[in-house]
Amino acid sequence: MEATTTATASLKIGDKSVELPVITGTENESAIDISQLRKETSYVTIDHGFMNTGSCTSAITFLDGEKGILRYRGIPIEQLAEKSNFIETAYLLIYGNLPTRDEMAKFSTLLTRHSMIHEDMKRFFDGYPSTAHPMGMLSSMICSLSSYYPQVLEPQNKEQMDLTIGRLLAKMPTIAAFSYKKSMGQPFIYPLNSLSYCSNLLHMLFAVPAEEYILDEDLDHVLNLLLILHADHEQNCSTSTVRLVGSSQANLFASISAGILALWGPLHGGANQEVMNMLQTIHENGGDTDKYIAMAKDKKSSFRLMGFGHRVYKNFDPRAKIIKRACDKVLHKIGIHDPLLEIAKKLEEHALKDEYFIERKLYPNVDFYSGIIYKALGIPLNMYTVMFALGRLPGWIAHWKEMTESPNTKIGRPRQIYTGETIRDYTPIDKRG
Ligand code: ACO
Repeated sequence: MEATTTATASLKIGDKSVELPVITGTENESAIDISQLRKETSYVTIDHGFMNTGSCTSAITFLDGEKGILRYRGIPIEQLAEKSNFIETAYLLIYGNLPTRDEMAKFSTLLTRHSMIHEDMKRFFDGYPSTAHPMGMLSSMICSLSSYYPQVLEPQNKEQMDLTIGRLLAKMPTIAAFSYKKSMGQPFIYPLNSLSYCSNLLHMLFAVPAEEYILDEDLDHVLNLLLILHADHEQNCSTSTVRLVGSSQANLFASISAGILALWGPLHGGANQEVMNMLQTIHENGGDTDKYIAMAKDKKSSFRLMGFGHRVYKNFDPRAKIIKRACDKVLHKIGIHDPLLEIAKKLEEHALKDEYFIERKLYPNVDFYSGIIYKALGIPLNMYTVMFALGRLPGWIAHWKEMTESPNTKIGRPRQIYTGETIRDYTPIDKRG
């Protein structure tokens, strides 16, 4: 489905007037199409942080931040969280519809068959110090896959593209688990194709050759849930990075590698690690949540309540609601009492009643409670953002695919307004200062 032109908007600059088309999407969101603006007026627009700028049209994910709605390919996130699994959701995002039984079987086989990485790649890990952050390793390794599968440079070949997508989805958990094992100084555990996607990941992360690792179905279930909730979120920072890099016709591995790096930042996916650091600090300092709420409000302090606020959600993040419920369930099931969960709940309760947060419409986001579940699963802190990346992978792939297949795609190249020095002469070094 395409966006339709529904009206025009008039723009007056000095004595010149231009008519700009207004386009409307399938959920009635409207945008002023300024693609001819510079040609007709010589003006560009400026919009720091793209607060008001739509970078593309997309049929993958709909979200309404005011109402707290999130749907993948039209299906509400609540239904997917309850009824689907991660592989099925990945298929939905990438190919547009839920798979039939046959499609699901083929897709699952593709993902298990390709789960091993080239044996030579194992040696790459030797070059890293044991303190290396797994996000840095993950990004480098994903980019390195392009050396092993150069066919990916021909995205127009559909069969080849499907195989590349399968390889990427299959190998990413293996690379992620190997990064973790490297940081622990433990031997790598190879994938087991008889296991489901999430169980295989848990097995590669936690099994050791010295003893039997018993998989827990509940853990598989909660991991599926977390990955589904992270699977796509339309034009966020990392997805926009994947699209921007891909718009230069960089290959899929290179584009995803760049997306992983964008996700790493503490204002984006890195927030899940920062939330846990924050909760731990509050705990170690006696659990005084009021003090930290006051710090978050204090404009002289750089402290922010991590896991709170969102560029798009000005209401409850529906993913945070689901994760909070799952958090209670998982901790109860495993029999863990985590004081950090109590601190998180206290912070949330306090913030939601506080005028500062109410006025700015700041609510818990997806990262606020996810770390507590990762901790309960035994996943170490520096792997939290890697878990986010594993979840977000199908979304990145879906957007890269949509972009490469769209006839409207152009290389991403924003304009700027120059504010530097005007022309001046070169000064020889002995005349400077
Ligand atoms: N704690 C305290 N104040 C906050 C917070 C917070 N977590 N978030 C926003 N604010 C305040 C800002 O100081 C600003 O106040 P002002 O109007 O008085 O200047 C106002 O709320 C608006 O915030 P902006 O930073 O302008 O909003 P923006 O949309 O640019 O930023 C962001 C969104 C980056 C997510 C921000 O809310 C933040 O830094 N949150 C903490 C980090 C975090 O949790 N990131 C994960 C986001 S979800 C994800 O990427 C997966």
